[in-house]
Amino acid sequence: MDTLHYLDGRLHLEGVDLRTVAAQYNTPCYVYSQAQLTANWQAFDQALGEHPHLICYAVKANSSLAILQQLARLGSGFDIVSGGELARVIRAGGDPAKVVFSGVGKRHDEMRAALTAGIRCFNVESSAELYRLNALAGEMGLKAPIALRVNPDVDAGTHPYISTGLKENKFGVDIDEAVSLYRQAATLAHLEIKGLACHIGSQLTSLAPFLDALQRVLTLTQALAQIGITLQHLDLGGGLGIRYRHETPPTPHDYGRALLAELAPLPYEILLEPGRAIVGNAGILLTRVEYLKQAPDKQFAIVDASMSELLRPALYDAWQEIIPVVEHATPAKTLFDIVGPVCESADFLGKQRSLSLHEGDLLAICSAGAYGYCMSSNYNSRTRPAEVMISGAQTHLITRRETLDEMLARECLIDLQPIEDAHATQPRT
Ligand code: LLP
Repeated sequence: MDTLHYLDGRLHLEGVDLRTVAAQYNTPCYVYSQAQLTANWQAFDQALGEHPHLICYAVKANSSLAILQQLARLGSGFDIVSGGELARVIRAGGDPAKVVFSGVGKRHDEMRAALTAGIRCFNVESSAELYRLNALAGEMGLKAPIALRVNPDVDAGTHPYISTGLKENKFGVDIDEAVSLYRQAATLAHLEIKGLACHIGSQLTSLAPFLDALQRVLTLTQALAQIGITLQHLDLGGGLGIRYRHETPPTPHDYGRALLAELAPLPYEILLEPGRAIVGNAGILLTRVEYLKQAPDKQFAIVDASMSELLRPALYDAWQEIIPVVEHATPAKTLFDIVGPVCESADFLGKQRSLSLHEGDLLAICSAGAYGYCMSSNYNSRTRPAEVMISGAQTHLITRRETLDEMLARECLIDLQPIEDAHATQPRT
């Protein structure tokens, strides 16, 4: 499916000309395709066929309510990492009984909220967390469903900031200690062992690390069976990559087939936690060229989006394709650094891009649906952008652009003493 395409030289998402989105909602603005989002989720769901499974979308990738709402409507489960994400899932109509809760630092209040909501499973990441959860569940007269998130010490072969399955990472419990920890969990009265979880990193572009991790997980399940601990599900995490540039990641179908080759004969329900592969290529960031600027060695195109709206290039040196919304008839191309107005040299969206640009032109930054809006900030006191969902020929505003008053609403001035008094009470030096 190619929901992003040119029609008569004008870039469209589904049936909508992106110029009309910019005219109506202004820029910078995130724009998503509902059809692409749906197709991406369904690709995962279908990849596991008739084998018992649940696709738990990783909310962190894009937590906007209308995105969650659409996925909930398809029957999705959700992987959350905070009480805030749980609240979003519930607000969007998601089923708490399909929620798994990952994360190394779950607070008491977050655990309580998740126990009250009746989530499907806590993916426990340390011994200390196991005991805290047991105590809390006991106080509430409940049993907490758990899986241990194990760290299989597999190199995901991805950017170090988004690799999580190595011994040196803070995530999960060491796979060699897992048996002893499961044994302890089995003795705790307010826990119920449901499964085993594992997530090794993000933007993986080959199957090998996933399959390596799976082998280690399966070896562990055998060791657990020998001590009488049987599991109902295996949660294999997220991490399947998407194409930003030249990557050729496996499709959900390839991934599903490889998993079933190992898991079809086994009795475990399979849980997956994809985020990027569901929402990444379903969204773009629409921005407008404010100025062209000639520096001694290069040309800059200064656009109205920045690292405040899309942090990935600045934080990971990530490459995202940047294409014009209107193709010029005689495209004399120049190399541009596409940069934002923020006062940081790291504030770039793309470097040395060959484009034909004029002031006022619209650009689409592609594959921005995942880890885009949700990682945006108010840095440089920039208001957060709008988000728009396209469905066929229809355009829905799903997040209003933040106003200056909203940005300032939580802050207040303090009752200062008159300046003269302040001088009088100043400490002597
Ligand atoms: N499950 C767990 C436990 C995770 O930590 C993550 C991502 C996922 C699932 C979803 O992974 P995905 O399918 O989206 O790769 N901000 C970074 C990505 C950070 C990923 C963190 N964990 C980026 O923009 O590339």
